[in-house]
Amino acid sequence: MKKYPVVLLSGIAVAALIFNSCNKQTALKPLTPNLPSQKYDYESVMSNSVLQASGSNVPFNNMVSNAGATLGRVLFYDPRLSINNSVSCGNCHKQQYGFADNTALSIGYKGQKGTRNALALINSSTKASFFWDGRASTLEEQALMPVVNHAEMGMERLDVLTKKLAVISYYPQLFEDAFGSAEITEQEISYAIAQFVRSIVSTNSKFDVNSQNFTPQERRGMELFIDKFQCANCHRGENFGGAPLADTYFNEGAPSGVSIQNISNIGLDVQYADRGVGSLLNNSKLNGDFVIPSLRNVALTAPYMHDGRFATLEEAVDHYSTGILPNANLDPFLLQPNFFFNPSLPAQPVKMNMTDEEKQSLVAFLQTLTDNTLATNPKYSNPFK
Ligand code: HEC
Ligand code: HEC
Repeated sequence: MKKYPVVLLSGIAVAALIFNSCNKQTALKPLTPNLPSQKYDYESVMSNSVLQASGSNVPFNNMVSNAGATLGRVLFYDPRLSINNSVSCGNCHKQQYGFADNTALSIGYKGQKGTRNALALINSSTKASFFWDGRASTLEEQALMPVVNHAEMGMERLDVLTKKLAVISYYPQLFEDAFGSAEITEQEISYAIAQFVRSIVSTNSKFDVNSQNFTPQERRGMELFIDKFQCANCHRGENFGGAPLADTYFNEGAPSGVSIQNISNIGLDVQYADRGVGSLLNNSKLNGDFVIPSLRNVALTAPYMHDGRFATLEEAVDHYSTGILPNANLDPFLLQPNFFFNPSLPAQPVKMNMTDEEKQSLVAFLQTLTDNTLATNPKYSNPFK
């Protein structure tokens, strides 16, 4: 009678051993990127006419090349860029979600939550501001910020990173291909990542290529977006984000990418857990101001707003319909018109009071901004999978 438990127990022990050793093997398996023998085309982004129309932030010394963006792709997905080899850019910027994160607050290398919702990466070459508060104005400047960020990737010393990459088998050749020398510098790391991020473009949504076949509901949604509810006052240009780069002016002395045309307070809060631009510029009149995000691929990038508070597009639309809160910094576009006619009246937020039909049409229009090829295109995918 006693035999059974012993046999059973040793069976479990063997199973546990096998399971354990399998686990260890996968953990130790060396990471090697699986790259195509013929490099993917990234360079064509430089001549994309839709993007060119919006102005471009590409510096002359960092044009997108196929070899540069290939290296950038590997760096983007390599968890070894984090201090404990656990988190890559791709952990928070996920291709299937339009290079945003599907959780409100992304998890950094120590397993702790950040404070803001990961922004979607899209058509970056046309953007004037990066991050929710616009604190970076170029991708080259931006690229290493998450690497050194103590909550995101924790690689605080970039000289340690260059040495770390230099002894990983696949890097010297990739740097040689991209920059003509196997020596690895901080600038090259940031330039290559910037090239890859810049190559992530979307100009193939139904809105771009097939708007003549909009359903009546999609067409109605577009009209509401532009005319009745004037969403396009803020979500404008090719990216349905802030002012296109070509039309952006920066106030003299304003740091980085903060331009008054690209930021707005939409009345989400009365008390601010995150003061946004107000905190960056130490200016209480800008408390609650955030960069106007692009709505391209917005159907893929839930949850929404700088803190990911809304789970669905319907909730985001509801905010504009009835949820805008009165506050001193509310964007004038969202104030009731009587304030402009008679400024002695108290400034009140506009009440759009949308019908269900109007809300559904707006959402249907927003869905036409999705580029499904982007979410599956192998040239943007994780080469370590
Ligand atoms: C732990 C999660 C996390 C990791 C890892 C991460 N990011 Fe981000 N990323 C975010 C969050 C959150 C934001 C918004 C932060 C803010 O605005 O303050 C953001 C913003 C950005 C933006 C600004 C986009 C825009 O249009 O304004 C870019 C570009 C970007 N990240 C690229 C990268 C790159 C490149 C890497 C790897 C080197 C990376 N990120 C790693 C979470 C992450
Ligand atoms: C006054 C400028 C302004 C107007 C008008 C405006 N928006 Fe926005 N929109 C913003 C800003 C700024 C944010 C980000 C706010 C934040 O997170 O603090 C935003 C965020 C969003 C988001 C979430 C995007 C994301 O990636 O998280 C959606 C969806 C959206 N707006 C749709 C609309 C629609 C639909 C309308 C018209 C009914 C509209 N917006 C009108 C400025 C505006």
